[in-house]
Amino acid sequence: MGPQPTDILDEFIDLEPEIENFGEAVIRGLSAEKKFLPCKFFYDARGSQLFEQICALEEYYVTRTETALLRTYSSEISAIFGSGCNLIEFGSGSSTKVRILLDSMNDPAGYTAIDISREHLLASCAELAQAYPDLSVRAVCADYSEAMDLPALSSADHRPIVFFPGSSLGNFNEVEAVDFLSQVADFLGKSGGGLLIGIDLKKDEAVLNAAYDDAKGVTAEFNLNLLVRANHELGANFDMSAFRHKAFYNSAEGRIEMHLVSAREQAVTIGDKILEFAADEHIHTENSYKYSVEQFSDICLEAGFGQPKVWCDENDLFSVHYLETS
Ligand code: AVJ
Repeated sequence: MGPQPTDILDEFIDLEPEIENFGEAVIRGLSAEKKFLPCKFFYDARGSQLFEQICALEEYYVTRTETALLRTYSSEISAIFGSGCNLIEFGSGSSTKVRILLDSMNDPAGYTAIDISREHLLASCAELAQAYPDLSVRAVCADYSEAMDLPALSSADHRPIVFFPGSSLGNFNEVEAVDFLSQVADFLGKSGGGLLIGIDLKKDEAVLNAAYDDAKGVTAEFNLNLLVRANHELGANFDMSAFRHKAFYNSAEGRIEMHLVSAREQAVTIGDKILEFAADEHIHTENSYKYSVEQFSDICLEAGFGQPKVWCDENDLFSVHYLETS
């Protein structure tokens, strides 16, 4: 047997984010008056793979626009970071974007990757550690939407830079976003660090709708994979042909919503539970909030950050913000 991912990494911390969770969450969410499933459960091995495919879609401008911004402004960004920093990434996925930063940073000291998808996290970090032999790489399997002990996950000897790309903050509502950013601000205030965060911007609704309902149906498969997962892991009997993907921009709320819609009246069995669905009943599976640069700056101020440095692409599709506490 060849070297295992954990042999190559400097440290692996497993906070076991899903230990009892998926089954309970499915029963709870599908028994609610308005049915819902938490979006963090998208990312099993298949879901992580589908998300990678989404990132490469023509309609999904998010990844390529943010990547181009990071490339264009990498020297400016690295100069702000300074030398000998420890990068801490939330939702590190395949750890692709962080390489743009690492390649332009002056003597980066460490990289802490936090992700809910264990195998994907370990494989990505092992690859990264091999590509950057001088970097201290730490993998943390955790659900960052739960409170986390950030000082324990970083390295006290190095200036921490929290990296939160991809607009994943968009999964939080405004109260949750302020809460989350306040925790990060508190940690960064004490350690003299900074936050680099990607935020998707409000724009033409047709562009948003296409990004979450692509022509190839990859996003549909990603959404429906929640039910496939319930069938595999919980022994549920969802009929995959009886649910369809629906995504739309809710302008009153400023967010994309994803739903799974029951094509007919039906009952689904999970263990000893029978769950009833009316025809056209929705399961709400994801929110992805969109901001204006000003709206997001206000949220950061509320969370305890100071004036941001902001970079946008020429079409104002996406924004990258650098923040320190005031
Ligand atoms: C990973 C939360 C940033 O909201 O754009 C992509 C997830 N869902 N297509 C997003 C997602 C459907 C994505 N985030």
